Amino acid sequence: MHKPVLLEEVLEYLNPQPGQKFIDATINGGGHGLAMAERIRPEGKLLGIEWDKEIFENLKKRVSSDENIILVNDSYVNLKKVAEEKAFGKADGILFDLGISSWHLESGRGFSFQKDEILDMRFSPDLTVSALEVVNTWSAEDLERIIREYGEESFARVIVREIVEQRKSGIIRTTGQLAETIKKAVPEWYVRGRLHPATKTFQALRMAVNRELENIEKGILAALEVLKKDGRLAIISFQGLEDKIIKKVCLEEKRKGTIRVITKNVIRPGREEVKDNPRARSAKLRVYEKN
Ligand SMILES: C[S@@+](CC[C@H](N)C(=O)[O-])C[C@H]1O[C@@H](n2cnc3c(N)ncnc32)[C@H](O)[C@@H]1O
Repeated sequence: MHKPVLLEEVLEYLNPQPGQKFIDATINGGGHGLAMAERIRPEGKLLGIEWDKEIFENLKKRVSSDENIILVNDSYVNLKKVAEEKAFGKADGILFDLGISSWHLESGRGFSFQKDEILDMRFSPDLTVSALEVVNTWSAEDLERIIREYGEESFARVIVREIVEQRKSGIIRTTGQLAETIKKAVPEWYVRGRLHPATKTFQALRMAVNRELENIEKGILAALEVLKKDGRLAIISFQGLEDKIIKKVCLEEKRKGTIRVITKNVIRPGREEVKDNPRARSAKLRVYEKN
């Protein structure tokens, strides 16, 4: 079960009230979404969007008889179209909680370097390029660029050199093979470090396969079109580049006069939450209000 991050803070800033309408753009198992749904009853509506079909189907089974909840299996990039198709109208608040869930690591779809599974990493089968293709067919230059940029991995060059070397003797088919290749490439102290040496490369591949940074920008812009005046947009990110895109897009919107910034300083989880849920340690929450 995925533990929701910064749940109290999200509820405080979005402040759902009976009769209001909210969108959870990344609903997953509903950690935030279902808590919001509880607060808008009996008349309010929650629109939950989830790109991953398996996760969507699981949640759908759990909430199928709930009249306050509408669930859609799509990318939040299409948030405006989805809201229109469901005749949802304008929202009082919208939440994005980016990245993968604990569920993905257990999904068998190649998100975890702790297991030996076929490299895939696609959130949706609609995506045509999987991690298998990226690792085995992309040029060394492109691989190095994504591992350096999306993974912020300073050993990108040596990792890619080793990947290209391995490719000469056959396909790198599994997460285990890729993790071993990375270990072989990087210095010994990095292998023994606190962070698993494959962490940043895996993150980079996942972000490239799912076009995550591109999606964030499109998603925020779509959300701003669906928000009511004075409605709030809350975004939780887990990684520097995600936060950078959020700040960039929202700064432009602030300059245009579309939004105002509510969280002058980013909101971070408290020590207790991090102790209870280590995944929360890099979380950052930013909140904006529509003008
Ligand atoms: C961190 S989890 C959300 C967890 C949720 N807030 C909770 O606490 O239960 C992020 C979810 O967003 C989904 N996701 C990723 N990209 C998406 C996109 N472009 N559109 C919709 N959902 C997406 C992932 O499949 C994952 O289930």
